[in-house]
Amino acid sequence: MPSEYNNSTNANVAIVIGANRGLGRSTALALAERGVDLIITFRSNRAEAKDLVKMIATLGQKAVAFHLDIGAVDTFLRFAKKVQEALRDHWGAERFCYLVNNTGHVAVGPTAGLTEADFEGLSDVHLKGVFLLTQHLRPLIADGGRIINVSSGLTRFTALGMAASGPMKGALETLTYHMAKELGPRDVTAGTTATDFGSGIIGDNPEMQKDSASITALGRTGQTDDIGKMIAALLVSDADRWVNAPRIEVPGSVKP
Ligand SMILES: NC(=O)c1ccc[n+]([C@@H]2O[C@H](COP(=O)([O-])OP(=O)(O)OC[C@H]3O[C@@H](n4cnc5c(N)ncnc54)[C@H](OP(=O)(O)O)[C@@H]3O)[C@@H](O)[C@H]2O)c1
Repeated sequence: MPSEYNNSTNANVAIVIGANRGLGRSTALALAERGVDLIITFRSNRAEAKDLVKMIATLGQKAVAFHLDIGAVDTFLRFAKKVQEALRDHWGAERFCYLVNNTGHVAVGPTAGLTEADFEGLSDVHLKGVFLLTQHLRPLIADGGRIINVSSGLTRFTALGMAASGPMKGALETLTYHMAKELGPRDVTAGTTATDFGSGIIGDNPEMQKDSASITALGRTGQTDDIGKMIAALLVSDADRWVNAPRIEVPGSVKP
């Protein structure tokens, strides 16, 4: 956050959407380690979110957790009001600095096998949800703030079964360019981080882990902290203010 925007109106707070586990959790913890307070969201697992709030407190930072389903756009107005109240009640502020749109899932299958509901579910979460949630939150984002949308290596390479999931992230990256243009006059930067770090569908499957590890120069699959710490560094560093609307690949150095 540029120093000219450090004032009592703006809380040094990041909102991480979908933070109870995975990459979102790692990002939230890495931000807390860098002195940022958090508003985190969870969809189905309140207990994980509560644990994360406690962990953030042990790192010396304040955090609150709210429920949010990014597919339920009719709840966004209420969510934005809760954020506004939390900023006032917990930080005595009106705006927050950083937004990480992290939620996502994949629908795996051949083009012929996926249903309209699969397609709409992906587009609701990866595109419509991000668009409308950011629209609702943008009055609460501080001038000089940042938005990071989490993308995927699937916009760079192909994988069988990902013909519906990949293009959603492609659209998200295009949306990010337009967000950056629109918010530029407020000195708010927007960017995507894209990763194929290898959890998600690979999960604990040893064969898939082996395959994934074999195409990285480091010879291992990525871990959530490989990505979360990178996102946190991008958000709080003033050194990369000119890095606006980029697609930052965090691929684990794929072999040439
Ligand atoms: N994992 C990978 O290898 C990989 C690769 C490339 C890109 N990415 C991207 O990285 C991001 C995070 O992935 P991840 O692997 O960390 O995922 P993850 O471990 O599956 O965690 C996803 C998080 O998003 C939440 N979420 C899912 N759908 C939601 C919805 N409709 N509304 C609100 N929250 C929702 C989940 O909540 P619940 O606990 O309730 O499900 C969870 O907190 C995603 O955008 C993904 O596309 C991941």
